[in-house]
This record gives sequence, C-alpha cells and structure tokens, in this order.
Amino acid sequence: MSDLGRDYETSLDPTRRRRDGVHYTPRAIADELVERAFAVHLSAIASEVPFSVCDPTCGAGVFLLAAADALVARGRTPFDALACLRGMDIDPEALDLAQAELMSWARTHGVTAELPSVLVVGDALNDQWPNDGRLDVVVGNPPFGGQLAGATVRDGSAVAGAARILGRPAGYTDTAGVLLVRALDAVRVGGSVVFVQPLSVLGSRDGAIVRDSVSPALESIWIPDDQLFDAAVSVCAPVLRKPSAAESAADSQLIPTWTELAAEAMGVPSVHLRGEPLSTIADCTAGFRHEFYEVAAATVERGSIGNEGEDFPKLVTVGLIDPARLLWGTRAARIAGTTFAEPVVDVAKLSKPFELRKRPKLLVATQTRVIEGVADYDGMLWPSVPVISVLPRSDDAGALDLLLAALIAPPASVWAARQAAGTARSPGAVRLSATQLAQLPLPTDRALWNEGSEQLRAGQLATAVRTLTAAYGLNEHDQSVVLDWWTIRSQRRKRQGKVAGL
Ligand SMILES: C[S@@+](CC[C@H](N)C(=O)[O-])C[C@H]1O[C@@H](n2cnc3c(N)ncnc32)[C@H](O)[C@@H]1O
Repeated sequence: MSDLGRDYETSLDPTRRRRDGVHYTPRAIADELVERAFAVHLSAIASEVPFSVCDPTCGAGVFLLAAADALVARGRTPFDALACLRGMDIDPEALDLAQAELMSWARTHGVTAELPSVLVVGDALNDQWPNDGRLDVVVGNPPFGGQLAGATVRDGSAVAGAARILGRPAGYTDTAGVLLVRALDAVRVGGSVVFVQPLSVLGSRDGAIVRDSVSPALESIWIPDDQLFDAAVSVCAPVLRKPSAAESAADSQLIPTWTELAAEAMGVPSVHLRGEPLSTIADCTAGFRHEFYEVAAATVERGSIGNEGEDFPKLVTVGLIDPARLLWGTRAARIAGTTFAEPVVDVAKLSKPFELRKRPKLLVATQTRVIEGVADYDGMLWPSVPVISVLPRSDDAGALDLLLAALIAPPASVWAARQAAGTARSPGAVRLSATQLAQLPLPTDRALWNEGSEQLRAGQLATAVRTLTAAYGLNEHDQSVVLDWWTIRSQRRKRQGKVAGL
C-alpha cells in the first residue's frame, strides 16, 4: 500500500470504510499476487502483443502499480506497461489517488507523453468492466461483505447486481465471492484471475455457489499465514485460469478439490494412512450449542462452594487442553463472558443427570494448531462445547491411553488438517468435528502403538510422538516430514494469554 493509500484509508469514516470494504493491500502482497497472476502469461508479456490487466476495485491502485513494475521487469516499456493497465473503483476520490500514484510512477520512469487513460469510476457489480470479456488478467482485493455483516449490508442495486452475476439471489454469499465469479466472466479464455477472498470462501456453506462456479478454473490457492488487514479476517486468493469449454469438459474428473489445494497452500504434508477408523473402537460426540448456555449458567468457581465442590465435575474448555496435558487450575478459563480460575459444574442445576456424562473418555479440542486431547480416567471432566468427547467401547484400563496416543500422534493431526484444510477460522488451525474424528485412521503397528502410549503416560511427549509416528506405518521420509510439520505447528500452538476461552 502506498502512503497516499494508507492516509486515505485511515481518513475515511469507519462506517463508510466498512460499507465499501476499504482495506488497502500492502505492496508486498500485491507484488506476490501479480506474480501469480502473470505466471502463465510470461511469453505474452515479454512479446509486444497487446495485454490487459484489470483491478476493478482498485482503490489507490496498489495492484496497478505492482503490475506496472512487473511488466517493465519483463521487458515492456514504461509507457506500454501503463497502456496495459485498467482500473475501476466506485470511489472517485480513491481514483484521484490512484491517478496521482500512476503519474508519479510515470515521471519516475521517464514517461513524458500524455498518460494512456487507465482509470474509470464504476460499480463492479453493475457496470461494464474495462475490456470486459477480453481481459488477460484480473488481479486485486475486492471489498468483503455480505448480508449479515452489519454495516457491510448490500444496498438494493448491489443485491440486484450480485443476483445477476450469480444467476440467483446472493443471500449471504460474500461480495468478494460474487466479484470472483464476475472476474472469471471478464477474462478471455486462457485469462487469469487472482482475487483476494475471505478464507471462509474455502469451506463455508454460503461460499459453495462461488466454489461451484469457479471450480473448473481453479489452479491453486494462495494462503498467507497471518491476518494481513486490520479487518481481523483471514484471507486467501484462489488462482484461476479460465478454461475453454472443451478443456472444462475434458478435465471435469481431474479437478483437484478446494480442500486439497488449500492443504497444499498451507504446506500440510500428504500422507496415506491405512489403519482402521477410530469408530471401530470408540464413539465420538460433541455437545450442542444450547447445552453450552445451560452448562455456563451452572458453572461456579470451585473455591466458592467449600468441600462440596470436590464432587463437581471440572469444566474443560478448548483452551484448557494441551496435547496430553490438562491446564485446568493452572490457566484461567473464560466461559460465557466470565473468567474462572477453577470452573466446576453444579450438576444439580442441569436438566439431565450428570451420571450420563460420568464416563471415562478423552476430551479433544478443536480449532487448535494440532490435535490436542486429554484423558479423563474417572469421568470427572465436563467438556464445554465445542470440546469433543471420545468414548472407548472397551472397559480395558489401557483403552483410554491407547486412544489418546492415536490422537496425539502427529500423523493424526496431518490427516485432520488435510481433511478440513481451509475450513477453520484461521489458516493455522485444525477444525475437528465428532463425525470427522470418528473417521480418523488408527495406528497400524500395535507394538509401537503400545510403546508410544506408555511413553505418553510417563510424560515423555517428545519420545512418544516419534514412536507413535512410526506406529502409523509411514516410511522414514514421511515420518520425518510429518514430525517436522507437527513440531513447527505445535511450537506456535496457541495464544499464550493467561485466559483460555472457548
Ligand atoms: C479492499 S479495498 C481494496 C482496494 C485496492 N484494490 C487495494 O487492494 O488496495 C476495496 C475497494 O473496493 C471499492 N469498492 C467497493 N464497492 C465497489 C463496487 N461496487 N465497485 C467498485 N469498487 C468498489 C472500495 O472503494 C475500495 O477502494
């Protein structure tokens, strides 16, 4: 982002900023995305054939500047590079800034001729785009926002425009997704689109219409590790290339899934696990959202109720679970807005008898960087929604330890991260559901599984994860790839705050 762009963004009234999704992109990100968009067009760029690059929501023009530099770096003259650019935005003041930026770029690059006309004011949802249907590349960061998001509600014309683009009412589909569909329409066959999207486009129900319509063009996905914008939303950018009708028909069986490409983009190793699913030896359940509020209302501080509190189950949130380590009592927990040092559940206040829950089980966290679980040997832990319970069918004393070992094993985290890549709240998190966990393949080498489980019980986590990785029957190369991935992921495990919430 240029200084001009940053100053303008911060000068805008916050309501308008949210309504129009004004979050300008850092220059390094624009460079990276332009590179990806140009990758399949390098020979056209290096030749003198006409070439057009459009950012239809260009704001102060950071993507246009990045494109101009990339074109010059590949041999276009500065004047010719400027002639390739097409920018549009609904905000004329932003375009004034973009114009100033382009003029300054032209001066720095010795362009003395009158500048080609690059920028137009327009509404990307309703108006024609420059070179519509014939563009070589669309690259940019469109506004985010949907029906639900407070000030980012679409107005009447935006609703109509989005419905026209999708061919049906857009509902809660994000405006950025609608514009991704529109962008694919605006490029020629063989043209490319790289458009920043909220990460939720990868897995959300409302993103399905977008995924379905652009899937035949999906080549890869760019996913940064951190949040880039102060809009507090994780982002990604699908890299699309518009296929011809014949290519679409021929490739329809070969299209990689969004999940596979998201897993690649996040660097999750690809390994094949052959074991029986967890469901052959245990049942997985998750509480329901309404239960959370009932339990929250029955939660009390253990110290506040004298000796009686000793018999109350300890309430365990996701944040109180580390791999094979319960943090209850050592870290505070936040439950429905209240902070507790030692939360317990006053079971007399619950509508269902506690006895139903008083069973040995594993408690497994979700939205964590690797799978994290703890054993509840005497049934005195209460899983706070969305913690998942894994209940062994066998009463065998070692059954819980074996289950815990299977889950803590790095290949299990790799498997889970690949299954649901891109569907968690942030790129580094693994989203687990009870149904999905039930499908987790178990280790195949029983002797190593037992050994790893004993090491885990003895508190030797580092040794145990090695043994258990081997227990999954991977070759040595895959073992070291999986262990490296797990080690890096678990080192940056969770926010180190003192309060552990949901
Ligand atoms: C997220 S900002 C990105 C700006 C620029 N592409 C960048 O990355 O720095 C989104 C831009 O979309 C513009 N915008 C919002 N709604 C639009 C619409 N319907 N048509 C065209 N531009 C729009 C805003 O004015 C804002 O400049």
